[in-house]
Amino acid sequence: MSQFAGKTVVISGGAEGIGLSIASALGKQGMNVVLGDIDPVQLDLALAQLKSEGARATGVTMDVTNIGHWHHLADQAERQFGKIHMLVNNAGVGGGTGTVEQSDRNDWRWVLDVNLMGVIYGTQTMVPLIKKHGEGGRLLNVASMAGMVGVPFAGAYTATKAAVVAMSESWYAELKPHNIKVSVLCPAFVKTRINLSERNRQPDYSRDEQASDADSFKSEALAAHMQNVINNGLNVDVVGERVVEALNAGELYIFTHPNYRPVVQQRYKAIDEAFERAAASPLLAHVLNEDVVGFT
Ligand SMILES: NC(=O)c1ccc[n+]([C@@H]2O[C@H](COP(=O)([O-])OP(=O)(O)OC[C@H]3O[C@@H](n4cnc5c(N)ncnc54)[C@H](O)[C@@H]3O)[C@@H](O)[C@H]2O)c1
Repeated sequence: MSQFAGKTVVISGGAEGIGLSIASALGKQGMNVVLGDIDPVQLDLALAQLKSEGARATGVTMDVTNIGHWHHLADQAERQFGKIHMLVNNAGVGGGTGTVEQSDRNDWRWVLDVNLMGVIYGTQTMVPLIKKHGEGGRLLNVASMAGMVGVPFAGAYTATKAAVVAMSESWYAELKPHNIKVSVLCPAFVKTRINLSERNRQPDYSRDEQASDADSFKSEALAAHMQNVINNGLNVDVVGERVVEALNAGELYIFTHPNYRPVVQQRYKAIDEAFERAAASPLLAHVLNEDVVGFT
């Protein structure tokens, strides 16, 4: 029997795409599934799919940028299934592509609030509830390959995903004594509607001003390129199954695109070479043998 059978998972942004793929795979492991999503129509469709697959599933329309919505989602999950054992912080938006000077302040606020604050609010709400029953549990954050290597023309998105990787590493060590295992999923391109995230933009984050003609031409070209790349991405159904495989193996970093390994290796090589240069600097010779503190 699966180690997850009979336990309860809460998944943000679970109404479609990667979140729904994870929901379906965990439902097939016998988990009770609780979805939170901003899109009520997709949410109903997702719940119908999960139930047709035999899962015990429920859902709440909610916005991850609203801490009150998280509390309501937690209340619903506990009322229906008793205990919460796993949180999947999956909801996210692409935020579009463009140059740093072209990006609108409200684009930044939107992407930071959904992709970063949404993860923080979700974790702050659910982790105490997982801790309180003492049975241990799981926290899975959905970051991106963009959290491993910076992506040009996507500064806001990259910033949030790098932060989610970093927070996952931090929480991995912090929550280990509570028997809560933390993982971070870092996919490259997956065929979903992430490139159509504008459909999920809340009115509070409307753009301040129109981009200039030249900038919007560049955005359109980049957007068309991104659409093509996403359309040729990994089949989303594989992602949920891969997540179950990796959770069973207790992985911290979960990858779905082994072909990107050289890209990440290139980054680590550049970082390592920068350390070599620092180590060779006469200015820093006295630091070389000092104790390393605060990172274990
Ligand atoms: N598709 C990819 O290529 C890819 C690659 C790496 C990482 N990711 C990440 O995977 C996660 C899921 O994205 P996806 O590709 O499935 O995209 P998607 O657009 O298909 O699904 C996103 C889901 O999140 C929901 N959502 C959006 N804003 C929300 C909000 N404020 N509150 C609650 N729900 C909200 C949407 O309604 C939707 O159901 C995101 O965090 C994304 O950054 C995607």
